[in-house]
Amino acid sequence: MEKFLIEGGRKLNGEVSVCKAKNCVLALLAASVLTDEKVVIRDCPKIADVVSMINILESIGVKTQWIGGDIHIDSSNITDHEIPEKYAKEIRSSIFLVGSILGRIKHAKSVFPGGCEIGLRPIDLHLKGLKDLNVNVMEEGGFIYFDGKNARGNNIHLDFPSVGATENIMMAAVLANGVTVLTNAAKEPEIVALADFLQVMGAKIGGAGSSSIIIEGVKKLRGAVFTPIPDRIAAGTFLLAGAITGGEVCVKNCCPKHMSALISKIDGVAGDITSNRNEIYIKGYKKHKSIKMIETQPYPGFPTDLQAQITALECVSDGASIVIENMFETRFKHVTELLKMGADIVVRDRAAFIRGVKKLHGAQVSASDLRAGAALVLAGIKAEGLTEVSNVKQIDRGYYNFEERLQALGASIKRVDN
Ligand code: UD1
Repeated sequence: MEKFLIEGGRKLNGEVSVCKAKNCVLALLAASVLTDEKVVIRDCPKIADVVSMINILESIGVKTQWIGGDIHIDSSNITDHEIPEKYAKEIRSSIFLVGSILGRIKHAKSVFPGGCEIGLRPIDLHLKGLKDLNVNVMEEGGFIYFDGKNARGNNIHLDFPSVGATENIMMAAVLANGVTVLTNAAKEPEIVALADFLQVMGAKIGGAGSSSIIIEGVKKLRGAVFTPIPDRIAAGTFLLAGAITGGEVCVKNCCPKHMSALISKIDGVAGDITSNRNEIYIKGYKKHKSIKMIETQPYPGFPTDLQAQITALECVSDGASIVIENMFETRFKHVTELLKMGADIVVRDRAAFIRGVKKLHGAQVSASDLRAGAALVLAGIKAEGLTEVSNVKQIDRGYYNFEERLQALGASIKRVDN
């Protein structure tokens, strides 16, 4: 069990480059199973969730190889249709593999997936969507069996624009007979990237990025070489690290147009922001005004994956803010930890009421999930004194070389064994 030791109180200054998006890489890895030809996914971060997804692929007979940062995938010989329970419990995105395995070999078996401890996270929308594609779904003894030999396109409406369900249905539909029209689909940039990748593979798919995605099934997909999109959540985390310390940080190799919801909240409030096509620069204010109201929404709204980090920022604002979490039921576990650091926050149902304090102080805190962990690191960098963040493995699921990148910006943070 490793932890981070952070000596707070230093301004962050300098440049930081972000990796490709974890959530994009995971979807592309799943989609790579749809072809028996070779696939290369370029420039991937070697983070725990990506490694778990690769382990799942290997367990069904897919051959993978890292060459530098590129993942080479050969799915020509799929030997199994079962997503092993051990890995399925580790990452929720294992559920996407159902769609791609079904597309490719027409049957699949899974348990209910795991992932961050942030809410109920049911998979009813995934199952309904697959059933609408005429996939036979049977639950027995904790396992789910999928038979997709009669899969065919259909009109599918999602009750909620779930990212995972949209991706799963896209992957199941690209090789199903007929036309699928998916309405109330998720519009996240990762959906657009997945559609672009599928198109390079020969899929017929349109409308990704809008709420209606149209897919005309094809018989076969070919190999592809593809570069994932930059990680907008990691980029936002570093931007907020600059903001919380009142520093000057330039986030490079990111995609500012994917980050409008964050930029519009903090520009002129927590710092001055300038951006160009692939960089964002923040000149943080010494003491920032409060943002007042933040409400998480599906894209292009404010991302739930930045809620914990912006909550940390608001702990030291010059005023009061309300943060409403609409996406996940129990995504305020970082609040208990921030209270140990002197924050003034009250949580009622899905709302956190935050009164900015003059300063936070170091404390022993634990990362309950990936983004909560990132928020505690930001708070630790701002706080006076020593902060210990335990359960760092949660942070490692999604941030590549997090502490090295923060050190390069001037943070005093080191990883130690418990
Ligand atoms: C993805 C992201 C995650 C992000 C989330 C929301 C990946 C690997 N993960 O997760 O980082 O926080 O989008 O932007 O891409 N829901 C149901 N039934 C379902 C599916 C979802 O009720 O069948 C609910 C969930 O419980 C949640 C909401 O829909 O309350 C959003 O979930 P969803 O968009 O599916 O998130 P994920 O795809 O799991």
